[in-house]
Amino acid sequence: MRITRVTLHIVSKQNILPARTISGSVAPPGDKSISHRYAMLAAIAEGTSEIRHFSTAEDCRSTLDCLRHLGAKIEANQELVRIAGRGVAGLQRSRRELDAGNSGTTMRLLAGLLSGQPFESKLTGDSSLRRRPMRRVIEPLKRMGAEIKARDGQCAPLEIRGTKLRAIDYSLPVASAQVKSAVLLAGLFADGVTSLTEPVRTRDHTEIALLEFGARVEQAGRTTRVHGLIGSGGKNGMASLQGRALEVPGDISSAVFFLAAALILPDSNLLIQNVGLNPTRTAVLDVLAMMGASLSLISVRSMFGEVVGDIAVRSSELKGGVIEGELVAQLIDELPMLAALGALTENGIEIRNAQELRVKESDRIAALSENLQRMGAQVEERPDGLRIAGRSAGKLRGAEIEPHGDHRIAMAFAVAALAAEGASVIHNSECAAVSYPNFFEALNTVVER
Ligand code: S3P
Repeated sequence: MRITRVTLHIVSKQNILPARTISGSVAPPGDKSISHRYAMLAAIAEGTSEIRHFSTAEDCRSTLDCLRHLGAKIEANQELVRIAGRGVAGLQRSRRELDAGNSGTTMRLLAGLLSGQPFESKLTGDSSLRRRPMRRVIEPLKRMGAEIKARDGQCAPLEIRGTKLRAIDYSLPVASAQVKSAVLLAGLFADGVTSLTEPVRTRDHTEIALLEFGARVEQAGRTTRVHGLIGSGGKNGMASLQGRALEVPGDISSAVFFLAAALILPDSNLLIQNVGLNPTRTAVLDVLAMMGASLSLISVRSMFGEVVGDIAVRSSELKGGVIEGELVAQLIDELPMLAALGALTENGIEIRNAQELRVKESDRIAALSENLQRMGAQVEERPDGLRIAGRSAGKLRGAEIEPHGDHRIAMAFAVAALAAEGASVIHNSECAAVSYPNFFEALNTVVER
């Protein structure tokens, strides 16, 4: 008998009342980006890896499920994940489609990993993920020798026939850590050294994780080189990765919702504990500080090549400003929250050169514009961004928010709603679980009304 797993999504909504202030402390879940990478590398390492504070996000559960279908033995309880590595040549063909759910990182990074396996795989995802652009990973992976079929040549489902890959020198046309990581993971299965140059330096968690698991990686400016494991000596002419005991720092992209709430609510004083502060992720702190945010970093330390610390934040008058150019790629996941803050700043916020936002979990430019207008903000939507008028254009009012299934839109507007006049409803609020399953509960523990 065939047993099919059915995931029930209970459609829920959250009523958000205005808040007086926010105080105390909060610790966001483990970083989603780092969790995906640790899990994938652990699956192809020798020996067992134990990963503490692994992200509780649904996206990371999708990664674990895919790896299980590829033969990895994984035990996951609360926040400890134990993965018995299969070794560099040990993954097995999955008997069923691999489902990445809503997770672009799962799909794109696994596409890299699967391109180097001696079997065929089919990768699919939910309706949002099946609309997102995949040509950006297909293109370099095909150059490395993988055969990949995609719907209309550019969307999932992806059918990947993996093979022994050849190393390439590749200049990424888009600033994307996912594409970079897909090629770096494929590079492990290539004969020689794969070299990648990015237009903008994006998050470098893959490079750091590869080093932690024992791969050879070199980095200079915007270029990263990874040495293939095949033909690098060791058993059967293959070098190996080693299983590790690791801990994941808290996710700064989740912390940012609490940061924003503390900045906009009066008399707030909040400590956000154990947050990943890798410099390729902290541009949002620089931008907020430049806008007048009172932030300080405490107990900053290094952990498995990553930087981690606590962030103390107090209410602040935010000036607002323009976010454009290279900055956009460096705080891409924080733009929904920054945009939703726009109407609460003195001069408003303008976002330019952010056309990438249109191909995230939702068309984030449209979703931001629609929901900000529902709250009474003055918004000008543009092809590559938006401009939100500041406080002088009027107060935000409570509204019915439609997140379009996008976790970051749901959470950004839950925060804006705390500072609005009147109650708001976040429809389909369960989508927050894609990155932060207990977000609304955590918010309620620090908010005072
Ligand atoms: C991610 C990279 C970013 C980001 C996403 C996670 C990653 O996507 O938006 O949430 O883990 O590498 P792109 O690389 O497509 O910009």
